[in-house]
Amino acid sequence: MLNLNTRFAEKYVSPDKLAAYAESSAEVLARCQAGEGRYADSQGWLDVDEWAGPEVLARTEQLATHLRALCDTFVIIGVGGSNNSARAVVEALHPHGARIVYAGNTLSAHELNRVIKDLEGHDVVIDCIAKNFETLEPGSSFRLLRQYLVNRYGREEASRRIVCTGTMGSSLERLCRAEGYTFVPFATNVGGRYTALTEVHLLPLAVAGADIRALVSGARKMQEACRGTSDVTTNSAWRYACLRNMLWDRGYRTELLGFFEPRFRWFSKWWEQLFAESEGKDGKGIFPSSLECSEELHSLGQYAQDGTHQLFETFIDLLTPGAGDSLVLGGTDVADSFDYLSGKDFWDINKASFAATRAAHAEVLPVLTLELDRIDEEHFGMLFYWFAFSCYASGSLLGVNPFDQPGVEAYKRLMFEALGK
Ligand code: PA5
Repeated sequence: MLNLNTRFAEKYVSPDKLAAYAESSAEVLARCQAGEGRYADSQGWLDVDEWAGPEVLARTEQLATHLRALCDTFVIIGVGGSNNSARAVVEALHPHGARIVYAGNTLSAHELNRVIKDLEGHDVVIDCIAKNFETLEPGSSFRLLRQYLVNRYGREEASRRIVCTGTMGSSLERLCRAEGYTFVPFATNVGGRYTALTEVHLLPLAVAGADIRALVSGARKMQEACRGTSDVTTNSAWRYACLRNMLWDRGYRTELLGFFEPRFRWFSKWWEQLFAESEGKDGKGIFPSSLECSEELHSLGQYAQDGTHQLFETFIDLLTPGAGDSLVLGGTDVADSFDYLSGKDFWDINKASFAATRAAHAEVLPVLTLELDRIDEEHFGMLFYWFAFSCYASGSLLGVNPFDQPGVEAYKRLMFEALGK
């Protein structure tokens, strides 16, 4: 279950005003639900089965089983949309498959030396994921790690240990065909940050041991919820999109994705990328940032409570404790002044901290709460679809193209110039 609780934002946007706004923007929702011809090359994710149907799942599981037999360590070489979704799930759930190492997301020699060191003593397979095989980070890491594999295993064995996910007809595909690497086609009509429910991420997730069928099934449920109704009281993704834009119109410029389970840290990176690249353009867009609680209540929390009131928060609230989510603090005969906690479960202490934070912040800023029953693959599938759909709707309400990212070209031009490309 996934539910958007907007009670703590009603002081700022009344339910009546929200309903009127949604009503007056109904045509935007209808366009997003149907998909638009002008974005046809970016909307393959709208219908989950287009890139995550039964055939794809079977093929992906088969390839993952093959790769897992070769390795205990699987390197994801990718950046942005090409690694964030898989990393969000792996770092939250730690499924019991191959260990995942990340490369292709940095140019730091120190980090890359650390990655290579991290591979020693392990059986390794690398997966280079690149839609447009021109991006510097994955391209340079791929060459580095390919050479590492060849030095270590010899050329023939190395080629069995290399898989690439790239665009059909690209130079990456040609390289794979020439060297005998396994090639997985990148979803043709899905941009990087919208690829969570495609082979781009399903393959590494399956190798990591995640239940990709549950992930896809969660996303399918959300597809139905997001595209099946236009009623803003029941379509929570639409409600979120409307609220974000109403808050934007009222001068709110930053959104903090807050969470009291550090397991959501990498999910928040995925979310930041999704909204930053989709909405931050044409001089517009809410700045997406995160609030990892309770730690950052001792830093950003001060700003949220007392700083300029141009930000609002969306908290992810995990409702049901799962395995490992209970830990009772015992009593003590040492006078440490924390006796009020004796016998309390950290789960409840954490919840008390959340409730207090939300109540205090809601006095001065709008607070939304995304309530999640559990944290598992199915719920990640729901989150990926729900946020992708709401981002599309929110960007459309804002009047920007949610699928391009022209702003990242400016620094690239200067960088390539400096590097002599
Ligand atoms: O969302 C996007 O399209 C981008 O963030 C890309 O995913 C990112 O730049 C990586 O691109 P590529 O896979 O082409 O290297």
